[in-house]
Amino acid sequence: MNWKDEYKKKISTPERAIADIHDGNCVVMGHAAASPHIIQHALAEHCEDYNDVLIFHMTTLGENECLHPRCYGHFRHVSNFLSANSRDAVNHLEGDFFPAYFKDVPEMIGDEIPCDVAVFQATPPNEEGYCSLGVSCDYALAAIRVAKSVIIETNELMPFTYGEGMIHVSQIDHIIPCAYHLPELHAEAPSEVEMAIGRHCSTLIADGSTLQLGIGAIPNAVLQSLGDKNDLGIHSEMFSDGVADLMRRGIINGSRKTMHKGKAVATFIMGSRELYDFVDGNEDIELYPVNYTNDPFIIAQNYRMVSINSCLEVDLMGQVASESIGMRQYSGIGGQIDFVRGATMSREGKSIIAMPSTAAGGTISRIKPFLTPGAAVSTTRNDVNYIVTEYGIARLKGRTLKHRAEDLIRIAHPDFRPMLIEEYERRFCCKYEVD
Ligand code: COA
Repeated sequence: MNWKDEYKKKISTPERAIADIHDGNCVVMGHAAASPHIIQHALAEHCEDYNDVLIFHMTTLGENECLHPRCYGHFRHVSNFLSANSRDAVNHLEGDFFPAYFKDVPEMIGDEIPCDVAVFQATPPNEEGYCSLGVSCDYALAAIRVAKSVIIETNELMPFTYGEGMIHVSQIDHIIPCAYHLPELHAEAPSEVEMAIGRHCSTLIADGSTLQLGIGAIPNAVLQSLGDKNDLGIHSEMFSDGVADLMRRGIINGSRKTMHKGKAVATFIMGSRELYDFVDGNEDIELYPVNYTNDPFIIAQNYRMVSINSCLEVDLMGQVASESIGMRQYSGIGGQIDFVRGATMSREGKSIIAMPSTAAGGTISRIKPFLTPGAAVSTTRNDVNYIVTEYGIARLKGRTLKHRAEDLIRIAHPDFRPMLIEEYERRFCCKYEVD
């Protein structure tokens, strides 16, 4: 049968497609802006028909109706990265968080993460019958490979992207043709504090560097501070609006990259409608599975690799907590430590963890004598290199515990320095005499 006949035969309805999901099954769903909203809606509408169905997802952008409390008891949510709309469902009695690096998810699918049914979005097929996975390549291919049933929403408004995120019509069981706009994430204009952090980070970024930028307000502010740089490249987990802006201006051109020269490499894309238009059919951008993009040994092969990520708090030894506030799981590790390690191994590479010096409207110092009890360490004190706040840069790599504490106190908010100095003097049995 040629692929066009096969395509027609596989066209299905959401109701017929979800009939492949049975009690006790595990369903793996598409990530971030590529969440499959039609199937999520159908499942939520029919949630009473299901018992103990495990749903695995990571960040889910936009309205994911399966997360609504009315679905609790029918669907259990398991994830290794939480977002605002999934925190309650995953932390609910029946849900759970599992600590895991993003790069390991493809290998875990079919093993630690069983996958009976895979539900993803893609573009309609091209002339050869291949659908692009669009804005999310990450773990999709792994799930599609092992699932007993593959349900794909072929969305006419999904951007077509290059790289390895392609599936053939023959790999699909149910095709749901559709046309809906992807959910958007709009970055707010950076605050004064965030711009100051961005400027400090930019002093650490040399022309010709290849960058990874993490999630949150800080990476966005860093991108806005790079207007005077030349020949930057991208090898990242996420591709955002700020990156697209520097590509349009020719500042990011990949001309000095040692891997994928001239191409911006990522595993998923999340941002505004303009960003989705920019990446659609853009041959300068390539998406690869996350076990490739986030592999420290691949990352390290980039010359002048610089990773820029954010965190929630840092203790005076340089232990970095990026994913939980005490026992409360806030997000996940994603690729933070993989990029820290990859950048550290890269020739002339650097890793930067950047954060505002305070949280909660200035009432809490993010630099602390001790991490909040229960906080997970995302970047260990042995891996950490540069820590940046609006007050400056502390280079911790190669520094003793005493010098680390001194450097961190120097970039802490002035209101909290006396408290930190008191701890320093108690811990090291000496006066703090640093300017
Ligand atoms: N104690 C108490 N509350 C804190 C806190 C602390 N130490 N640190 C932050 N918060 C609060 C903030 O005040 C804010 O609250 P609000 O929403 O009420 O304003 C909230 O927690 C989020 O903090 P913020 O720093 O604004 O988060 P962000 O959106 O900039 O994201 C991370 C920062 C660290 C959560 C995010 O970068 C992350 O998840 N990192 C880990 C994964 C990663 O680095 N991946 C990299 C590869 S893509």
